[in-house]
Amino acid sequence: MKIRIPKEELKLGMHIDRAILEKADNGKTKVNFIRNYLIDSQEKLDKIKNSNIKFVFIDTARAKKIEQSKEPEPVPEPSPEPVVEKIEEPEPEPEEEEELDSFDDDKKSGGTIKARVPFEEELEVAKEVKTKAVETVKTMLEDVAVGKSFKTEDAKEEVSGMVKSIFRNKDAMLSLTRLKSFDEYTFTHSVNVSVLSIALAGELGFSKEEVDIIGLGAMLHDVGKMLVPDAVLNKPGKLTPEERVEIQKHTTHAKEVLEARGDIPEKAILMAYEHHEKADGTGYPEGKTADQVQRESVVNAVADVYDALTSARVYKPGMPPPHALSFIKSRAESEFNPEYVDKFIETIGIYPVGSVVEFNSGQIGIVKEVNRDDLYKPFVILVMNAKKQKIAEKIIEPPKYEANDLKIVRYHDPEGLGIDVESIIQTSETRI
Ligand SMILES: [Fe+2]
Repeated sequence: MKIRIPKEELKLGMHIDRAILEKADNGKTKVNFIRNYLIDSQEKLDKIKNSNIKFVFIDTARAKKIEQSKEPEPVPEPSPEPVVEKIEEPEPEPEEEEELDSFDDDKKSGGTIKARVPFEEELEVAKEVKTKAVETVKTMLEDVAVGKSFKTEDAKEEVSGMVKSIFRNKDAMLSLTRLKSFDEYTFTHSVNVSVLSIALAGELGFSKEEVDIIGLGAMLHDVGKMLVPDAVLNKPGKLTPEERVEIQKHTTHAKEVLEARGDIPEKAILMAYEHHEKADGTGYPEGKTADQVQRESVVNAVADVYDALTSARVYKPGMPPPHALSFIKSRAESEFNPEYVDKFIETIGIYPVGSVVEFNSGQIGIVKEVNRDDLYKPFVILVMNAKKQKIAEKIIEPPKYEANDLKIVRYHDPEGLGIDVESIIQTSETRI
């Protein structure tokens, strides 16, 4: 059994399944994980206790009896150097079983990914995983742009981290897709599409192996854009027919680049090649119809269109998620797959976590948690009154909608209202 305990309760012989470190003091982001670490010496125990770890997950089934030293324990001295590096290097990381088991359980219970870790807790991890993934994608795509090769292993590693995070608590990673970096669109977009595709595929009941491939294919789906001239790719105005053809070539470019690697699964390559095909045959590059396109590519297409619509670009503002979802819903039959679209809406919620919404009362709040029993009534942290004055935060839970005749009527840009969504979500009371 895996249980969470504060580090102070750690004892000799306990087996740490995973632990999360806080950010380094110098403000730099680190990969802050410890995994599969047996506390088999007092020295190790002291190191963990003196580190900046807050809590650990221990695996009770893997605990071992450790002989206490006969000599009196030396008084542990606080470790002068940061222990992070020391703890990270020596342990090999066997393939973790937790996620695989959990995944199978999910499938048995109807394919819904259930939260195993509170949102706030996973958010910290998800942020680290996403930051690293965006960096990796950036390096990879820039290498492709200058004709260099890239390491498939790096992409697989990032995807694996994202899959695990999503299966611990999908709302954490999904909420980060709301934070869009304007300058680094292609890189952030690639990671967002991967996150959204992994979550959707998980909910649709794809196997663990398939979800990994889908995450990889989605992450690489736009790799071909690196071979499209920049002036065309980022042109603010309307495209000429020739320029449109040039952009559309990115699917074929992607197929060539990825096939040349020799170590990318066929299905992932096909995702990059087919993600602009449409169910009614009006897409490109081949005009394939619903029955000719692999289902992995449809997952990618839904995620791709949603993230593209909700992102601000040089030539357009970002569309509010509810509008983007109704746009996708209106094309479910002709472009995608109605079952996939419905599942996607259920997965991310009509008002995704982090959305700033206004009630019919005029009060403003931030969506804290998607209510999957009724997507129109999420858990909301109320932050402004009807006069748009900041108020002490309180949570609106679904039953309060009926009781107070409340309805969400509008979606807001948080910046326009001076609301720091991220810090409010993180500091408000935990609930899952
Ligand atoms: Fe594309």
